[in-house]
Amino acid sequence: MKGTRITWLGHATVLVETAKGTNILIDPFIAQNPKYPKTFVLPAKIDYILLTHGHGDHIADTVDVAAGHGSTVVAIYELAAYVGGKGVANTIGMNLGGTVQLGEVAATMVEAKHSAAAQDDQGTHYVGVAAGFVLTIGDGPVLYHAGDTAVFSDMNLIRELYHPEVAMVPIGGHYTMGPREAALAVSYLKPEVVLPLHFGTFPPLKGTPQELIALLDSSVFVFQGNPGEAI
Ligand code: NI
Ligand code: MN
Repeated sequence: MKGTRITWLGHATVLVETAKGTNILIDPFIAQNPKYPKTFVLPAKIDYILLTHGHGDHIADTVDVAAGHGSTVVAIYELAAYVGGKGVANTIGMNLGGTVQLGEVAATMVEAKHSAAAQDDQGTHYVGVAAGFVLTIGDGPVLYHAGDTAVFSDMNLIRELYHPEVAMVPIGGHYTMGPREAALAVSYLKPEVVLPLHFGTFPPLKGTPQELIALLDSSVFVFQGNPGEAI
């Protein structure tokens, strides 16, 4: 991992801390996340919050974390504007296929297959489409967080362009791909390490890492730790 630490915080929430000290939190779902490790203390400084899409289980704590940890929020253009309207002071809006430089981390927004509205007291809002992120860390590994998605064959393009060494993919089923589809995704992406996301949080999310492992060859390491444990 070349000094990069990845900590799964339950559901799709992941903390990335690089060797050079850039801290990135992806899809903050904390207060209402049944799998969030309640004793876990976030770093005082979180440089960037990355949002894959506007669903509540991915953006719920964005405003609070950004205010408390001095974070700039990076999201697809419409979602960045939406959280800006909710009180986030610093945002970077981008779009599919684009790359922004976040310190020594090049963050590329890639495709996902999923719906993506945001809902609040005023109703349902269009906040762009769902996305994933590839994080190419200078002097570090290449990470891919798929967000919420079905499997799609253009994951081959993600491998061809970026060669992710760590793939964070949903496996719970119902709202995203399950283990069978995730195994095909892994065969396209060819990572060394898989971090399963978006399973076990709520009763419908039935897929398990064990089901995924049974479908993969043994050369791929699948993280089976608990939320709050680092890879
Ligand atoms: Ni979603
Ligand atoms: Mn979700």
